[in-house]
Amino acid sequence: MNTFAAMNADDSKKTRKGVSKESRRKAKRILKYFKPHRKVFAIGFVFLILSSAISTLFPELMGRLVAAGSLPKSSSDSIWKLNSINSIAIVLVIVFAFQALFSFMRVYIFSYVTERALKSLRAEIFSHILRLPMSFFDQRQVGELNSRISADITLLQDTFITTIAEFIRQTIMVLVCGTLITLISWKLTLVILASLPPMILVAALFGKFIKKLSNQVQNEIADSNIIVQEAYSGISNVKSFANENYERKRYDSVISSVLKLGMKRAKWRSGFISFILLFMMSTIALVIWYGAILQSQGDIEAEDMSRFILLAVFVGASFGSLPDLYSKLVKAIGATEHLMDLMDETSEALNPDHEPIKLKGRVEFKDLDFHYPARPDVQVLHKINFQAEPGEQIAVVGSSGAGKSTIASLILRFYDPTSGSILFDEKDHLSYDLSALRSEMAIVPQEVMLFGGSIRENIAYGKPGATEQEIIEAAKKANAHDFINEFPDGYETAVGDRGIQLSGGQRQRIAIARAILNDPTILILDEATSSLDSESEMLVQDALTKLMEGRTSFVIAHRLSTIRNADKILVLHKGKLVEIGKHDELFAQKDSIYHKLCTFQFMNETTEA
Ligand SMILES: Nc1ncnc2c1ncn2[C@@H]1O[C@H](COP(=O)(O)OP(=O)(O)OP(=O)(O)O)[C@@H](O)[C@H]1O
Ligand SMILES: [Mg+2]
Repeated sequence: MNTFAAMNADDSKKTRKGVSKESRRKAKRILKYFKPHRKVFAIGFVFLILSSAISTLFPELMGRLVAAGSLPKSSSDSIWKLNSINSIAIVLVIVFAFQALFSFMRVYIFSYVTERALKSLRAEIFSHILRLPMSFFDQRQVGELNSRISADITLLQDTFITTIAEFIRQTIMVLVCGTLITLISWKLTLVILASLPPMILVAALFGKFIKKLSNQVQNEIADSNIIVQEAYSGISNVKSFANENYERKRYDSVISSVLKLGMKRAKWRSGFISFILLFMMSTIALVIWYGAILQSQGDIEAEDMSRFILLAVFVGASFGSLPDLYSKLVKAIGATEHLMDLMDETSEALNPDHEPIKLKGRVEFKDLDFHYPARPDVQVLHKINFQAEPGEQIAVVGSSGAGKSTIASLILRFYDPTSGSILFDEKDHLSYDLSALRSEMAIVPQEVMLFGGSIRENIAYGKPGATEQEIIEAAKKANAHDFINEFPDGYETAVGDRGIQLSGGQRQRIAIARAILNDPTILILDEATSSLDSESEMLVQDALTKLMEGRTSFVIAHRLSTIRNADKILVLHKGKLVEIGKHDELFAQKDSIYHKLCTFQFMNETTEA
């Protein structure tokens, strides 16, 4: 079952069982964001009560208007009658006007408060999620997470602007108009009340079944969306394998079952709606029939009868809207709970206002064991021990999956070692502030990610607030200045999703410029696996050499030719550090793993050439 399906099943479970105390407690925390605006909110609430109160005048006045028209026609009364018809009509118009004014104020004020509360909620969620540890992101699909958050927030927006207000308004309507009809005729009211239990029972049964079908439809739609999403984001794979037809068929089969389920739901829905209509109409007929009998017995006046019918229609409409509003509120509580769960995830101990530190750059791994939090059963690193002296160039080699990138992640403190420790300048990593420690490091990753914006902004990412001169200087050192200047817009050229696409080598040089600006003590280079042509390879290599000067550098090397001059080479094999030494020493041992790696690659290179 996919995550969406799981979430839906989860939601439906909640709705079926009602809302637990725990959920309500969690949902209440949303009020924190409304608190700063509570005075404005209170004013909105007054307008809500006013507009609700005034809506209850409506059926009453209309009833009176109709009743005034049907007053017996006697000459002495006719002037009075016309007067009263006109004055009721004028009062109605005034009521309409106030209703419009109050509703405007209510919606505006609630929106004013809600938009502000949700802005701070959005900001807090974003900054909280940014601070969550890597393990959080390992276990989630980020796109899905994001769309769920937007959906939850939209639901909250609807809830605080309309749903709550509507719920209160309709409840007031039912109570006030309900009291009025009881006062007019308790006998007729009893007839209506008697019709309620069977209607509620049928609605509940049908509703449950339709809800189940709706959940199934939603799950199928989520499945179909995953296919679409995968196909679009992997479009180059789809095209290169000429699998358009395969994808179309895959999608077709899912949407066919969406259609089938949708039609099944439609059958039940139509049945439900026609049943409710039939039942309601019969009840109205019954009330009017019984009312006529009462009228003929002199139990109720003709004018009261018309008032009663109008009021009863309003009670019915308001009452009918309550279940839907209620289920929206339950959904909103679920959404809030989900958001609060995210806020409860423990974040990293980051401190943006940290005291600046300056490391010498000594790094030591001491008896370090590690497994990823998501996969406790697979130990990735076993008893790793090594030291990197300040300014040394350390190469990390080993076959795919050996644990090279994992070592880089541990140096960057993305994860905690499961046992053993990492020392920076001979002090345990825990004795440093995490933000301060990371500010002393930079990484040039395998896959360089460019942010939407100009090249200048992308380089400045390494040091927000860098001057134009510093940026150009860094670009020159990174061998990027020349190609940047060849673009018509130079440093202002837009890159990222909406901008121009840069080649792999160009992107790497931007990342190198970023790292140069950042001026880290400890540098991590995850060499790109995709090979560059020899000219850009040379440019990148030259830029890297300049970048590494005077810094402790860890180079995860795929091409062994680039690490001949490394001070130490760490050879990883299945998570164990099996060999440490310089190229010449390691290569001289004919039975070393390093020797094997080298000869294997050398053979490949010669056959390629
Ligand atoms: N986020 C993660 N969660 C769980 N396991 C992971 C995670 N990242 C990597 N692994 C596992 O840890 C092991 C080491 O992976 P790592 O990425 O360090 O290998 P590598 O040496 O960098 O390989 P490559 O040369 O292919 O990049 C692999 O078995 C991998 O499946
Ligand atoms: Mg790797």
